[in-house]
Amino acid sequence: MNTRILEINKENPQEEKLIEAGVTIRNGGLVAFPTETVYGIGANALDEKAVSGIFKAKGRPSDNPLILHIACIQQLKEITTNITKDAYKAIEEFWPGPLTLILKKSDIVPEITTAGLDTVAIRMPEHNIALEIIKKSGVPIAAPSANISGKPSPTTYDHVKEDLYGKVDVIVNGGDSGIGLESTVLDLTTDIPTILRPGGVTRDDLLEIFPKVNIDPVLIGAKTIPKSPGQKYKHYSPKAEVYVIEGILEDIPKVIIKLYEEYEAEGYKVGIMSTKQTEKYYQGKFTINVGNRSNPATIASNLFRVLREFDKRNADIILAESIDKSGIGVAIMNRLSKSAGGRTIIAKED
Ligand code: TXA
Ligand code: MG
Repeated sequence: MNTRILEINKENPQEEKLIEAGVTIRNGGLVAFPTETVYGIGANALDEKAVSGIFKAKGRPSDNPLILHIACIQQLKEITTNITKDAYKAIEEFWPGPLTLILKKSDIVPEITTAGLDTVAIRMPEHNIALEIIKKSGVPIAAPSANISGKPSPTTYDHVKEDLYGKVDVIVNGGDSGIGLESTVLDLTTDIPTILRPGGVTRDDLLEIFPKVNIDPVLIGAKTIPKSPGQKYKHYSPKAEVYVIEGILEDIPKVIIKLYEEYEAEGYKVGIMSTKQTEKYYQGKFTINVGNRSNPATIASNLFRVLREFDKRNADIILAESIDKSGIGVAIMNRLSKSAGGRTIIAKED
């Protein structure tokens, strides 16, 4: 497939390019575009054939449903049957923004888009290029992250090009994604709102408007079936094997250095994912700094790019420091543990 690249200026988007992207979607094509969380690969959510193209291009399992991206409340009314009071509360506070709501779907949403579920995931992105493309297309846009399934999500145009060039009709180059992690997925079909995937909007943020917010037991280690099918797949994985080193911050670098030397002696190329506070301990070793612990948003924003960077530099093993699991740290550690396939080492000095 011929892929057209559209450079769009975020501050001052060129109308004719937005129209070209929107019309491509309306006519059944595939368009990768930036959002405030990560880049998405979009198609007309109401067009079965177009949506099946997304699953093919990504190599995505067909039982993993998609998020519909909308630009106005009228579209929300068309694709759902019951907009609950809680939904209006969440929308008022967090849309446009990195919060996806699960609601009952209407009949116009085809089964392929929701993987056969009677619910639908919806969000209004806080990104002017994304919103304009949705408006120009005139349809809700189904858009998963614009990566090959299983790889770290794309936060830059280069990542999208790496994964999807030749597989989509258009890639929009609209600069880097800001947040760097996917949206929070919140189920509003249950009595108490339930987080199915942690993300940019934190549980504490949600507790400002809801008296109670549950967390899907799967996210805290239960072995039940996840309500968000995406949670059961291997995800965010670079080619290298990732190990997360947990424990008291003081002990982590010591344990990492020991492991680094052991693996290196066995002939592996080892990389360390450090933070501003700890990089000083690893001088002379292959290290990439993921951000500042005092400002975890920097870590969220860099995480996927750094995982891909280790691959480019041919790391066999990545030793990643864990970070504090509060606020956005919950989402960061969710993605990092998944990229490690659960491989965690508890740092204890001996
Ligand atoms: O930030 C984001 O959400 C990005 C950008 C592009 O908007 N999109 C994204 O899409 O992350 P994707 O497809 O990579 O992740 C969608 C998640 C999956 O975990 C999926 O299982 C869940 O949402 N999901 C979709 N529909 C659902 C439904 N009806 N019920 C429960 N979970 C659902
Ligand atoms: Mg994804």
